[in-house]
Amino acid sequence: MALEEMSVVIARAVATLRAGGLVAFPTETVYGLGADASNPEAVKKVFAAKGRPHDHPLIVHVANSAQLTAWARDIPLAAHTLAQKFWPGPLTLILKRASGVSDLVTGGQDTVAIRVPSHPVAQALLQAFGGGVVGPSANRFGRVSATTAEHVRQEFGDAVDCVLDGGACEVGIESTIIDVSGATPALLRPGWITSTQIESALGASLAAPDAQSPRAPGTLEKHYAPRTPLMLVEGDLIDELARSFTRQGKRVAVLARNARQPLIEKLLWIAAPAAPAAYAHDLYANLRELDDAAGDVMLVEQPPPAIEWAAIRDRLMRAAADAAPSGEI
Ligand code: TXA
Ligand code: MG
Repeated sequence: MALEEMSVVIARAVATLRAGGLVAFPTETVYGLGADASNPEAVKKVFAAKGRPHDHPLIVHVANSAQLTAWARDIPLAAHTLAQKFWPGPLTLILKRASGVSDLVTGGQDTVAIRVPSHPVAQALLQAFGGGVVGPSANRFGRVSATTAEHVRQEFGDAVDCVLDGGACEVGIESTIIDVSGATPALLRPGWITSTQIESALGASLAAPDAQSPRAPGTLEKHYAPRTPLMLVEGDLIDELARSFTRQGKRVAVLARNARQPLIEKLLWIAAPAAPAAYAHDLYANLRELDDAAGDVMLVEQPPPAIEWAAIRDRLMRAAADAAPSGEI
């Protein structure tokens, strides 16, 4: 986007936010479905458009960490340390909420999720708007997140007033969520910033989330799911499984880190990148492509156990939950 054009587009998006409308915007992780976080009627529209239950809290996006105090109270040193190291960037912090933050945003919890995104279009929007913008991933509830403006349009059609197109999202999977509202910081959702990076920034270990941790509903259940049943399988089993399903008359779609595709009729095979950054960048677009092929089953190669793949493993495990297809294998 040329600079001049960008300022016109951003001004229109800001006017839409001020009028209580929905603005989808690119971030470095995934696209967000934005609304004015201080306007409850606008926030309600986000839940309605996504079909999201009201007890699933939203992330408030702000332009910089100077705005933290407008949304959070009792901000601990750990939050400042992580904000300084990783913001703007793909990190969300859970903090005690400031008085006046709507129950609609927090799902009725005493905490609020805050993130300062680094994407230039998100930054331009937040700076021009000046306030907080709620931004759940721009997908219908439980479905695969959107990493291009085209995905957003496919998800919502005319239900979104304005879609800012910032190209394909660089990271490709949602932000790392760290709860810093309790005694010891805890990882609630793995993301591109790994738990090891967080621990080394803090100089301390993260706690496992416990019963006292704030709920992060989107992290607990089936999520990020294509319509087609998705099975996570070891790489060396894919060929055999694909043959077996095909013999049963099923159409098979495969996401593997291997370009050597077996000769099987009507097989859709995507060779995903071998490096985790590139794999994450392409992940949701690949899942959408396989899903759109309207096959009967998706076979996805189990990612390696290394820490760099933790967030990818997390998303794929949730995408695969409850998805065992019927039939013998
Ligand atoms: O990368 C991202 O974080 C993207 C981009 C658009 O910023 N946003 C995103 O939002 O993934 P969403 O709504 O799809 O996921 C936010 C997660 C949910 O699992 C929600 O339950 C959790 O954050 N969450 C929000 N507020 C919370 C809170 N106060 N306590 C615990 N978890 C919270
Ligand atoms: Mg989401």
